[in-house]
Amino acid sequence: MVFLLGFLFLCGVTDHIGSVSITTPEQTIQEVQGETVHLPCMFTLSPEDQGPLDIEWLRLSGPNNEAMDHVIILYAVDKIYSDFYQDMRGRVNFTSNGITSGEASIKIRDVQPADSGTYLCKVKTAPGVAKTTVQLTVVDYIGSVSITTPEQTIEKDQGETVHLPCMFTFISKDQGPLNIEWLRLSGPNNEAMDHVVILYSADKIHDDVYPDLKGRVYFTSNDIKSGDASINITNVQLSDAGTYQCKVKTYPGTVNRNLQLAVTDHIGSVSITTPEQTIQKARGETVHLPCTFTLSPEDHGPLFIDWMQLTGPQNEVVNRMFIVYLADKIYDNFYQDMKGRVQFTSNDIRSGEASINITDARLSDAGTYQCGVSHAFGTAKGTIQLTVVG
Ligand SMILES: *[C@@H]1O[C@H](CO)[C@@H](O)[C@H](O)[C@H]1NC(C)=O
Ligand SMILES: *[C@@H]1O[C@H](CO)[C@@H](O)[C@H](O)[C@H]1NC(C)=O
Ligand SMILES: *[C@@H]1O[C@H](CO)[C@@H](O)[C@H](O)[C@H]1NC(C)=O
Repeated sequence: MVFLLGFLFLCGVTDHIGSVSITTPEQTIQEVQGETVHLPCMFTLSPEDQGPLDIEWLRLSGPNNEAMDHVIILYAVDKIYSDFYQDMRGRVNFTSNGITSGEASIKIRDVQPADSGTYLCKVKTAPGVAKTTVQLTVVDYIGSVSITTPEQTIEKDQGETVHLPCMFTFISKDQGPLNIEWLRLSGPNNEAMDHVVILYSADKIHDDVYPDLKGRVYFTSNDIKSGDASINITNVQLSDAGTYQCKVKTYPGTVNRNLQLAVTDHIGSVSITTPEQTIQKARGETVHLPCTFTLSPEDHGPLFIDWMQLTGPQNEVVNRMFIVYLADKIYDNFYQDMKGRVQFTSNDIRSGEASINITDARLSDAGTYQCGVSHAFGTAKGTIQLTVVG
């Protein structure tokens, strides 16, 4: 490596020898702290440039940028070396795979104010050498807008609608036009931008930019400008899980917030835990018909419980429905024979207790009883035989 570096520096003595040329002009780039900045450097080779291609990005310092502070990334003999400079370790890489075809641009992730300075792109292919500089300024203020929603992980079951919140406020009144982007990120440090998911730009919404979420993503507010850039994704799939970034831009500020979406493949269920059984009572006694159940997820939508009497050789005929619990209300007076004789025994039916008592048992009460419990994820039924002896 020492030998290689010595060779590379030796070559960098003049601005432009040979015929490789950099087409990117010198420029100044401003970026907001925490963002990924792209430092452009495009070049073209000519037929005289026969030597191996070497690219260096250097950090300069001094009043006239005369001091070479650090090598931050190198491309040499088909390899990338990016671990020279402690301060940028893991944050810098070339932006494209097209280095050999003329793209020497780099990106620096999670830029900090301390990254501000002058960067030199040097492209060499013997005998040619070409250079350009980029002035980077990283601003630590967040401009005229800030996001008030904290980073968070949101978990949803597959098939549900998930809400990804992104609330923002304007700090100054005279901001430029508002732009909102939701992005999907990937990579161990969320450094890769995979897709634009939905956009709000110039008062228009573009919700068809990401095929995977086509028809499933929308802004939840119809007044985005007032500070609500939240979105919903309907019918979430396991493949939707990952990092989503809400990015709010309004000159001169850009802010973003990452949200993690976790999708569980848990399909809810309801089950009755009381075993089938036969209960015998004497006429005139109080009969207790047990029915306990469990729900998962515990709280999901309205709960519906019905008790029925069944008849027929296979208990296939619903003879009568005589007590019902629906959306926190009990209906128990629609079957004349049982009027005033039937009640749920628990005050907290939702907790999983749907048992009933029938007072003053009659011989005609004998038969098959069915307890049915339904919620958004399904229905379960349990049966009990009742015999009444005279
Ligand atoms: C740097 O970029 C190259 C080309 O795009 C890629 O193959 C490589 O994995 C990247 N390295 C890191 C550490 O991200
Ligand atoms: C967004 O989804 C949530 C459930 O996650 C739902 O409560 C809310 O009503 C939805 N908003 C709109 C505008 O559809
Ligand atoms: C239900 O009936 C049983 C007897 O079968 C009795 O022990 C219990 O107290 C009754 N529960 C209520 C709430 O009336």
